[in-house]
Amino acid sequence: MTTWESGPLRPEHELEGFDCTDEVLNNWLVHAARRVNDDGLLRVCVWTAPGSPAVKAYYAVMPHAVAKADLTSRQAKGSDPVPGYLIAKLALHRDLHGDGLGGELLLDTLENVVQAAGTGGGRLIVVDAISDKAAGFYRHYGFKPVKLTERRLVMTIADARMSLGMSSLTVSGDRRLALATVMYRRPDGQEFPFVGDADDLRRIADRIEEIAVAREASGGEGAIDLVAVMVDVLGRDPFKP
Ligand SMILES: CC(C)(COP(=O)(O)OP(=O)(O)OC[C@H]1O[C@@H](n2cnc3c(N)ncnc32)[C@H](O)[C@@H]1OP(=O)(O)O)[C@@H](O)C(=O)NCCC(=O)NCCS
Repeated sequence: MTTWESGPLRPEHELEGFDCTDEVLNNWLVHAARRVNDDGLLRVCVWTAPGSPAVKAYYAVMPHAVAKADLTSRQAKGSDPVPGYLIAKLALHRDLHGDGLGGELLLDTLENVVQAAGTGGGRLIVVDAISDKAAGFYRHYGFKPVKLTERRLVMTIADARMSLGMSSLTVSGDRRLALATVMYRRPDGQEFPFVGDADDLRRIADRIEEIAVAREASGGEGAIDLVAVMVDVLGRDPFKP
């Protein structure tokens, strides 16, 4: 079974030959994706098989906002317009359809959006389904139509975070007071702040550096678990409710 590699669109990726059955989405990838990605208008992420540059799936995400008047009361909370992210494109090569990979591609997209929202904020994830069939696919994963446009569907970032079982960490600092706040947000949206002083932060940073150096020496990979490092350095779980 192929383990698909997911990552940002890069110059070496091969786009020609991509066919998801929809000509508009095929042409967009080949003729427009690089330009708009390089312009920073949106971010394109692609799936490839290990060792192959051929793109087998892609999605594109950009910041977006929806007028409150277009949303149901549950969808419309906070400011007007309601900020969030648009899944501008999402497509899987036709050879891979019907095997659950489209669902995995969507979860990969949601994971990236939830992560972006952890630092950039936002309330909604929006998609304009290109067909009734595509709308059925998004509904299957819990997207709900907005008030008036059948094929415009939304999911709250809180619901996406919950269904992905994702927690998030946001780090902010006050240089003048030499303090930093790490906000731990559980999948259910509950938040636990930790405020550390310069000494705590130096010890945490030193420990991360040690782990990174040891990993590099052993050829290890993967993200460093900041919560585990904090528990280790502080000798207690700073986010324990
Ligand atoms: C949309 C697309 C990514 C879906 O991928 P897929 O491989 O066909 O779908 P999957 O096999 O991954 O389906 C995953 C789940 O969604 C369900 N599903 C898929 N299409 C559905 C539909 N039209 N209505 C309801 N449920 C649907 C499947 O039954 C499956 O459910 P399960 O996990 O409970 O068994 C793919 O068909 C595609 O690229 N289509 C062309 C481009 C496109 O339409 N993109 C959407 C742009 S808005």
